[in-house]
Amino acid sequence: MIKKTLLVSLLTLAVGFTAMADKGMWLPSLISSRMKDMRSKGFRLTSEDIYSINKASLKDAVVLFDGGCTGEIVSPEGLLLTNHHCGYDAIQSLSAVEHDYLTDGFWAMSRGEELPCKGLQVAILVRMEEVTDRLAAGEKAEAIIAAAEAEGTGYSAAIEQMYYGNQQFLFVYKVFRDVRLVGTPPSSIGKFGGDTDNWIWPRHTGDFSVFRIYSSPDNEPAAYSPQNVPYRPARHFEISTAGVREGDFTMIYGFPGNTQEYITSDAVDYIADVADPVCIALRTERLDIIRAAQQSDAKVRIQYAAKHASIANAWKKWQGEVLGIKRLGTADKKRAYEQRFAAENPDKAFLLDSLHAAYLRNTTPYYTRTLFIETLRAIELPQIVRFAMTAKDKERAAAVADNFYKNYDASIDRAIARRMVAEFLRLAPEGTVPEALSQLIARHGGAEAYVDYLYDHSRFTSPEGFSTDTATDDAAAELIGAMAPLYDLSARYAYRNLSNVPDIERWYRPYVKALMEWDTDRAFFPDANLTLRVAYGKVAGYDYADGVYHRPQTSLEGIIEKDNPEIYDYDIPQSLRDIYASKQYGRWGVEIDGRRTVPACFIATNHTTGGNSGSPVIDGRGRLIGINFDRTWLSTMSDVEFDEEICRNIAVDIRYVLFTIDRVGGAGYLLDEMTLR
Ligand code: ARG
Ligand code: ASP
Repeated sequence: MIKKTLLVSLLTLAVGFTAMADKGMWLPSLISSRMKDMRSKGFRLTSEDIYSINKASLKDAVVLFDGGCTGEIVSPEGLLLTNHHCGYDAIQSLSAVEHDYLTDGFWAMSRGEELPCKGLQVAILVRMEEVTDRLAAGEKAEAIIAAAEAEGTGYSAAIEQMYYGNQQFLFVYKVFRDVRLVGTPPSSIGKFGGDTDNWIWPRHTGDFSVFRIYSSPDNEPAAYSPQNVPYRPARHFEISTAGVREGDFTMIYGFPGNTQEYITSDAVDYIADVADPVCIALRTERLDIIRAAQQSDAKVRIQYAAKHASIANAWKKWQGEVLGIKRLGTADKKRAYEQRFAAENPDKAFLLDSLHAAYLRNTTPYYTRTLFIETLRAIELPQIVRFAMTAKDKERAAAVADNFYKNYDASIDRAIARRMVAEFLRLAPEGTVPEALSQLIARHGGAEAYVDYLYDHSRFTSPEGFSTDTATDDAAAELIGAMAPLYDLSARYAYRNLSNVPDIERWYRPYVKALMEWDTDRAFFPDANLTLRVAYGKVAGYDYADGVYHRPQTSLEGIIEKDNPEIYDYDIPQSLRDIYASKQYGRWGVEIDGRRTVPACFIATNHTTGGNSGSPVIDGRGRLIGINFDRTWLSTMSDVEFDEEICRNIAVDIRYVLFTIDRVGGAGYLLDEMTLR
């Protein structure tokens, strides 16, 4: 491999241009600095096509979906694609026993059948601009934000830090609050493979769902109203049905949430040796309890499906992350890098000492917060009682409670509480267990006895007992009071990562600035922080293990191979079996490996992270070729170290999306408003 890379770089040097690595998540307003590299890799458009404040550009078709995912507009009438797992909450809220859209799927057969989703929002970026100088000149952040929000209907603005505060950017969004469900495949397609296949390649998940943005008749954001009309976007994505080949250019346009590219070896050690292992172990206990209950009770299986998926998602990722960090020797590489920095910048070496000292000061409280969240705060009963204690609007509280109890089983929660209270006491660093909490538990004869007392006496274990009036004298209120210092600590340390605790971060500001001046060959990109980014690369397989190459495309053949009515995660809908048997693929049948079949998923070298789910994957002409939804097992450490050779993002092939809408959903009419090329 090394030899090959050397040869390639010698060759490219000979023609006068060295292709840069595919690593990085770039700010769209500054993308012109990457254009030469992007064009050399197959991008055919201009930076103005990606981001412009003067004309419609691709950014007008990308949305922040529900505050944590990405989505893309694919028609002049506000039709929106995202992942099934991003639409999951909305789909679950709209489901009931009589119409279970998670199990059966849902397809609106006309605009009138599209279902409003309470509380679901999407945000479109209006513009972004650097405000570092304005802030340095003394302008107040609040004033800049307020002025931006006054610019238009439904505007929302925020100032975000890049490079640990070396740069500040203003982001102005238009927020739409009338978003309706248009369609979703059944979970047996949208979540095919479930938690078994999650973070794994080869993959066969049809992880997509379809929504529509509605606006007021004058095309502005508005609260839900039957008078609202489909939003007319400045730009929508054209769709390419041409398919992908290994080596093709790909670009991801979306909202990555969190990477830690520049952290020091101390922070890597914290992740791989402390935080991840503890969190994994605690979640293993929780998942074991939930899984056992799910296996013995069909109702519980549905009730806890979303909870299980979200607990298991990070749990599984952390396991891969630890393996990846160890495999790459990330902490040792960072230590060597830090030594080199210190040796070559003796006047700045103190920055590393200051960082080290800051970690020593802040790791214990930050760890305690993490531990609290994964143990005591993972118990649901005190959470719902605490909510009732502080709820101001009774009607809204009743609605929240309805939703809560729909998916709550007090015996599971009790079993989890027995374990989590004991684990908190066992693992809490010295001096971090509140006195009142120790006393409360001791008074009842220990963790398990106390938890049994609590669940025997609290009224809030069932929906009938829920009330905003009685919460303060419920049995759980005493526990909530005893946990007050922990709630307080967790509010004070509510930062994205340990390294973002201000007492640490203030040293990263000069450190990263010094790195940028010193390490001039390194391509610095600002860490992900849920702001809009561009990542680009190519469709590519990878060496999975000795002698095992993973090719970049999967198909319906693999879905059928996995299909098994006995295994919940692999039980596809009968309609898909029938289509396979009859080979009635219509226009979606293509030749793959000499067989006529339907494409399913593909992988590429794009640098992505959580929040990139639902992101448009586009080709060199800006056309949609897939929807991003995951990374491969060997990529799970990429938030800390992105390994070019190995890291791959996973997308559902747009042709599988269209096939499913058309052939499985019978909603082919939706394709008429799209622009297919
Ligand atoms: N791993 C993907 C992401 O981080 C998809 C998660 C949803 N799917 C699941 N089976 N839990 O969010
Ligand atoms: N599945 C992730 C998401 O939901 C994407 C990833 O972590 O690669 O955003």
